[in-house]
Amino acid sequence: MHVRRTPPLRASAITGEDVYLDRRRILTALAALPAIAAAGCRGAEPPPPPVDVPRSAAATGAFDTAETRTRYEDATSYNNFYEFGSGKADPSRAAKTLVTSPWSVAVSGECARPGSVPLETLLSGLVPEERVYRMRCVEGWSMVIPWLGVPLAAVLKRLAPTADARFVAFTSLADPRQMPGVRAPILDWPYREGLRIDEAMHPLALLVTGMYGKPLPQQNGAPLRLVVPWKYGFKGIKSIVAIEFTRRAPRTAWNDMQPREYGFFANVNPDVDHPRWSQKTERRIAGDGNRLFADRIPTLPFNGYGEQVAGLYRGMDLARWY
Ligand code: MTE
Repeated sequence: MHVRRTPPLRASAITGEDVYLDRRRILTALAALPAIAAAGCRGAEPPPPPVDVPRSAAATGAFDTAETRTRYEDATSYNNFYEFGSGKADPSRAAKTLVTSPWSVAVSGECARPGSVPLETLLSGLVPEERVYRMRCVEGWSMVIPWLGVPLAAVLKRLAPTADARFVAFTSLADPRQMPGVRAPILDWPYREGLRIDEAMHPLALLVTGMYGKPLPQQNGAPLRLVVPWKYGFKGIKSIVAIEFTRRAPRTAWNDMQPREYGFFANVNPDVDHPRWSQKTERRIAGDGNRLFADRIPTLPFNGYGEQVAGLYRGMDLARWY
């Protein structure tokens, strides 16, 4: 995100290794079935050069895409995780010491089951699915990542939100002893994000525990992060320690910091420029090891997931409520 002022998680941290290996077998089997395999960020992007390639909807379904995947090495070394520093390489260097087990999530607000819930309990019985999603950062770069996760709706439903729960708020860990970036006033810590409840219940919204068939590395938000593929990447809050159901829209970290630049909804929208750069195109991180970026491509409304999610925003002025 552009600021004006300025040992990977083990499978045992979430499940036993036998269960984890079993999960891998399930995923491999699923991948063989074609029907199923279906911020505030920093440093302004350079002005966009002409688009290199026309973009077709290279999707094979909402939960998969035929587009070139970002290399694991790139997705785990080019990160935004300001709690570990504001450089892209800082999180992969500094987050190795983040202790991700044991881990609990504080559940509160408008729900029948508040309390501190161990991560294993929160996810018990839910088998992570592989979802290959595009991720578009508000800064103008994008990736294609195979995530492992469970539908956010499945987890929220077991917390039994009441009829008054209109929004859900998420909070990241902010521990200055483990997270050197939290000692600097880059954001009003802790990192906070939120969704309207119908957005949170949408089948595309994923609570992620792994990527590329492996447990989630710390720099990518271990042990639990959010992925909302039709929104800018900053909505994908990492290392979640609290979930609160609220009646009113929760305050969110980047929106608090710079409301003109980072909206609450933050749906990917090529027609609404960031005040300091265009959002019409993006630089896809799909290099081959010799180069990080592949071709610049047009950005799609809702990051290409409009067919699935546009109905959530019917009647809203998307330019105003960006
Ligand atoms: N979550 C926390 N807690 N802190 C952060 O700095 N950065 C966000 C989001 N989640 C961030 C965060 C931004 S700006 C982006 S683009 C994505 O994480 C980047 O995720 P990645 O590093 O896994 O690609």
